[in-house]
Amino acid sequence: MRIISLLLLILVWHSCKSDKKVEESINNAVPKRAELSYDSKIFLGNRLFSEKTCVTCHAIETYYKAPSVIEIMKVYKENNADIVSFLKGNSKPILNVSANEVAIMQNNIDGFLKKITDEELNAIATYMMHVDELVKNK
Ligand code: HEC
Repeated sequence: MRIISLLLLILVWHSCKSDKKVEESINNAVPKRAELSYDSKIFLGNRLFSEKTCVTCHAIETYYKAPSVIEIMKVYKENNADIVSFLKGNSKPILNVSANEVAIMQNNIDGFLKKITDEELNAIATYMMHVDELVKNK
């Protein structure tokens, strides 16, 4: 009986040990994901632009409650500016708008935009900067 218990103990101990090993190798096996492709960014950016409520103020082609995405894209292209940097609060707004409007968007930057990851911001920016191509293809 003693021998059996001892054997069982060894068996249990051994299987625990190998479980750990399996776990470790699974963790190590997950490769770092490469950067998203252009198409994936456009797809994700388009989705996030709705999901993260940007569309409730920004229409694509016309002024709704805020400048249109086309207008933002034009100004950002002309100035070779960086949308991600603006959305992270690292650069000032460059559109010619009222202080009131700036305050509304600043509120978003200080609020819910902080919860959006860099990868998501990057996808949103890519989508916004290429929105003219998407509209053309309609
Ligand atoms: C509550 C309304 C509202 C929402 C929601 C909103 N925006 Fe804005 N946004 C504005 C207004 C108003 C302006 C114009 C003020 C300005 O340019 O700073 C603006 C301006 C911008 C600009 C141009 C800033 C510049 O350089 O002048 C970008 C880029 C932008 N928004 C991106 C976004 C993105 C991306 C989202 C969603 C994650 C979003 N906005 C959600 C109201 C909104």
